[in-house]
Amino acid sequence: MKSHKKDSNCIKKDGNIDQNMKKNKLLANILESSSSVSIISTDLNQNILYWNTGAENIFGYQASDVIGKKKIQIIYDGQESKKNALKAKRQIISTKEGTECELQQISKSGKKLWSRMTLTPCFDENENVIGILGIGIDITQNKRSEQNLRETMKKLKKTLTGMIYATELIIETRDPYTAGHQRRVAMLAKAIAENMNLTKQQVECIYIVGMIHDIGKISIPAEILSMPRRLTSAEFNLIKNHPQSGYEIFKKINFPWPIADIVLQHHERINGTGYPNGLVGKDIMLEAKILMVADVVEAMASHRPYRAAFSITRALGEVKQNSGILYNPDIVDSCVELFKKGKFSFDSNNSISPLLKDINVLL
Ligand SMILES: [Fe+2]
Repeated sequence: MKSHKKDSNCIKKDGNIDQNMKKNKLLANILESSSSVSIISTDLNQNILYWNTGAENIFGYQASDVIGKKKIQIIYDGQESKKNALKAKRQIISTKEGTECELQQISKSGKKLWSRMTLTPCFDENENVIGILGIGIDITQNKRSEQNLRETMKKLKKTLTGMIYATELIIETRDPYTAGHQRRVAMLAKAIAENMNLTKQQVECIYIVGMIHDIGKISIPAEILSMPRRLTSAEFNLIKNHPQSGYEIFKKINFPWPIADIVLQHHERINGTGYPNGLVGKDIMLEAKILMVADVVEAMASHRPYRAAFSITRALGEVKQNSGILYNPDIVDSCVELFKKGKFSFDSNNSISPLLKDINVLL
């Protein structure tokens, strides 16, 4: 931000507008007629030199009440706000440039306020910074609206998350052999995403999708899901419909995460041999690539109706062997590292079930 040099907005220490400003009646009128904009100047010790009508209206103090008093003690609310104001002051002195910031303030009557302040250095004849001119607009209403929006979003997320958990329970009630499968996949996929330093939003999304990624199995006859033998190709073709069925269930729900697309892609493989659409790596979402690795490792390490559980070493061997072929190598490496370094095990995550506890992890 450009600074105003010595002949623009200098304020004399006696509290009067600089001689140059006095000559400019128009500017003086602007300063005084800005009834909803606070214009305050201080010296470098934060002593108030000028306080316009707007500042009187916003903070409730008359100019005569505050001239010569320390601004920081009068209008800044809380240590954080005072710290930020001092930080802005130090920045202006060292750079001789203006800055902008949002500061929490308090009126004479104790009302909490938020202002967006434009702070500009004032100079003497030798261009030394001798004070700061602050122009502020009241953004308290905007801040309240933002806060209300955040709370509404939080409630909405909780409702959606609750709905997702209910969905998960319905699936598991119908298909006891996969009870816990989705939850364990979700926990492993979340751990991989965290290990890869993905954003909080991505981690949240991956966890949620993991919890319901097999919802499409609801359209498959229960006898097929629990068949105690290997499936015929016709039966397996029915199973292969479940990503598409899951997509159809979720596609019209406007989740804050791309759940339907990730569900659709969770059985794709990066070399194009997956289903239902045979997508290749670049066309598969990162979240789906993580989910597919977690899904395979969990499925191999768990008991199935037609076979006993494989060891985790064998499950990890499967994804390692196909790293770069079926699965993204970075994701495989991240997954293997989690187990190798003891950062994750299904045993320690198996008991994580109380639903509200899981919701609190996310929100
Ligand atoms: Fe699946």
